[in-house]
Amino acid sequence: MSAHSDRLLKGILLVNAFLGLEKFKILYERLKKAADKRDMELDIMTNAAPELILPGGIDEIATDYDFCIFWDKDVRLGRCLERAGLRLFNEADAIALCDDKADTYLTLSAQYISQPLSVPLPFTYDNLGYEDVSFFDKTGELLGYPLVIKECCGSFGAQVYLAQDLSQAREILKKYGRRPLIAQRFIKEAAGRDLRLNMVGDKCVAAMMRINDNDFRANISNGGSGRAYKPTDEEVTLAKRCMEILHLDFAGVDILQSDEGPLLCEVNSNPQFVSTYECTGVDLGVEIMDHIMRELSS
Ligand SMILES: Nc1ncnc2c1ncn2[C@@H]1O[C@H](COP(=O)(O)OP(=O)(O)O)[C@@H](O)[C@H]1O
Ligand SMILES: [Mg+2]
Repeated sequence: MSAHSDRLLKGILLVNAFLGLEKFKILYERLKKAADKRDMELDIMTNAAPELILPGGIDEIATDYDFCIFWDKDVRLGRCLERAGLRLFNEADAIALCDDKADTYLTLSAQYISQPLSVPLPFTYDNLGYEDVSFFDKTGELLGYPLVIKECCGSFGAQVYLAQDLSQAREILKKYGRRPLIAQRFIKEAAGRDLRLNMVGDKCVAAMMRINDNDFRANISNGGSGRAYKPTDEEVTLAKRCMEILHLDFAGVDILQSDEGPLLCEVNSNPQFVSTYECTGVDLGVEIMDHIMRELSS
């Protein structure tokens, strides 16, 4: 019998204090509603709450609550909560790995996950950036043009750039080099389309194909449109392996359909699932609550 089975489960929905966009509020509301549906108590708290940032508060919170849905990238705070004994969904280390596209790439390629050939670019200091970008010439030759350059921490397609040739690549490096970057082979047959597999545990609970005829980035927030999609076994297996390797409870796994088969594009530990709900009718919030109940009672 579980320690929690005789009373309501009580959790925190931890969100970022500074992301005020309406689309985030809608998502948090969906999660709250899903918790209500499953008779779970879910208190919204931000990463700027005084009880979390001042000494001593975290231990109290960790004993008051059974779990925390950590819908933020504040990994340092996440680790403090875990050290105090709170179970995070997703775990802080998993969020950290997903939040950095170079870390995701290196972790997954060490386990032979198929991905577009990529080169994490060398670290520099944010007050220096790259003054000399000649180091990129060989990377460009290896990947071929056009190629993709991504900021390692980015979302909604907003920090993903296409360089048609070396001179465009150099411009991108000079402009964005103050932040960590990864260069990647452009999968031209997948331009403007990708797959979003919404995974909970080892199950794909809903999937979409996203299409944009005007931009190589298929993100819905960037003007793409989604339609319900039934993934192949190979695509689901790829997503499942990424979930296991990265130790995720739930995620939005982006896949590119290349001529050589499915390639992992990136993994989102805090997936914007409202568009998935509108497109497929599957409420990821409820799936996440069911997963939490299963995990806490096992
Ligand atoms: N190597 C690539 N080749 C072709 N298209 C790509 C490639 N990488 C990304 N894209 C497109 O750009 C979109 C955004 O890239 P992604 O890595 O998922 O960043 P974000 O975190 O901003 O969503 C993808 O959904 C896909 O449509
Ligand atoms: Mg993406």
